[in-house]
Amino acid sequence: MKHTDIIEIISNADYIEKTVTICGWVRTSRDSKNMAFLEINDGTSLSHMQVVIDKNIISDTSDFMRLGTSLKITGTVVKAFKGDSVEINASEITVLGECPLDYPLQKKRHTLEFLRTMPHLRVRTNTFNAVFRVRSVVSDAIHNFFQSRHFVYVHTPILTGSDCEGAGEMFKVTTIGYSDKYKNEQEYYENDFFGKKAGLSVSGQLEGEMAAMAFGKIYTFGPSFRAENSNTPRHVAEFWHVEPEVAFAELPDIIEIAEDMIKHIIKEVLNRCSSEIDFFEKHFEQGLRDKLTHVMNSNFEILEYTKAIEILQNADADFVYPVEWGCDLQTEHEKYITDEVFKKPVFVINYPKDIKSFYMKQNPDGKTVAATDLLVPGVGEIIGCSEREADLDKLLDAMQKRGMTMDEYNDYVDLRKFGSVPHSGFGLGLERMIMYVTGISNIRDVILFPRTVGNIR
Ligand code: 4AD
Repeated sequence: MKHTDIIEIISNADYIEKTVTICGWVRTSRDSKNMAFLEINDGTSLSHMQVVIDKNIISDTSDFMRLGTSLKITGTVVKAFKGDSVEINASEITVLGECPLDYPLQKKRHTLEFLRTMPHLRVRTNTFNAVFRVRSVVSDAIHNFFQSRHFVYVHTPILTGSDCEGAGEMFKVTTIGYSDKYKNEQEYYENDFFGKKAGLSVSGQLEGEMAAMAFGKIYTFGPSFRAENSNTPRHVAEFWHVEPEVAFAELPDIIEIAEDMIKHIIKEVLNRCSSEIDFFEKHFEQGLRDKLTHVMNSNFEILEYTKAIEILQNADADFVYPVEWGCDLQTEHEKYITDEVFKKPVFVINYPKDIKSFYMKQNPDGKTVAATDLLVPGVGEIIGCSEREADLDKLLDAMQKRGMTMDEYNDYVDLRKFGSVPHSGFGLGLERMIMYVTGISNIRDVILFPRTVGNIR
């Protein structure tokens, strides 16, 4: 269907006085005796195109007025009556698809909670138009950050036989389902599709490490799955995960890469999504542009876990969860550190080894691992990162202490036998990054179809 994108017409003065055809959906409409006005959106820009109908030219406008109707419109581009935008004086309008009055998006603004009940339609609102445009730009920024630094983009498997985080949060994959006709679990798994236990990957890291041992620097960018029962504004069961893995890199090297990546993403969003940022400032987070500009131009804080515990213990705050050395930081603790103390992104480094994963490099103190979480104001943890344990004996020891099934990790362990090198990597949750740059406070509103506990369609 030959037509011109609205964004092209808005951003190029050469279209003025030209005849164009646009296609799109009616967002607002206004009818009067001699004239009618439609605001049309085709998804290519946050701004709508105003279409002016002179009833001497098109007398019956009744079919065009209902919100959500899809139209094909031909007309002349002219300077708008007010402001410096353009509008179209229509000469011909065809209805592509009618939209009856029970179309739910009749009001100008709906709450995000209401919109969550209709994920197939909420994408047509301004908020989702802006969020998904930013999400697309952030994804592109991530690719060009790594591509321009010689990282190889690898696709790690989604179906897996080993649980990367070892936290038992894997969704099971089965074609037969358990029944008491099997003598025990082992017999059941042997009869299943893969002949062994399988699940949806919680992280591409283990396979990513294997690729990094060949290509030096790799990144993955795909879905990860977590069957954790966390009904919070920051958790979904299916999220998009960016995971670089870098050979010959220790913790400070990977921290530098993570910080550069976040700043690069922010720079691209500020440069390429200016009207979306204006929109988020107006409706979701005042001062968003200044926040992002400030983050882009400041050094992130690096804070020892032990120091973080001291700060929290001395804090003038009533935490629900007690704070003592060895505890995992809860949302309220992370929030205090980022929102109250530092007011910028903070890398908390060197966590107690007992609360972190088996693959993290054990520090010489025997108590901590070379791991870091990047915490940002408003969202909390957006990156989980570590140097990996490159020493075979130490790795085996950590796995044994956790009671892991060693057979599932033979390939991974081999990496430490055959030319092991210091290496590091991290995982960025794409949705949490989008929350940070848009000011949207619930993860369900930055992913097309959120999958959460008790919710799938
Ligand atoms: O800290 P996590 O669990 O780290 C890993 O998976 C490592 N294997 C990554 C690596 O080193 N390659 O997860 C990394 C990030 C978190 O910081 C968070 O942003 C995101 O993934 N994430 C989630 N996002 C949304 N919903 C969930 N349920 C998430 N779980 C983790």
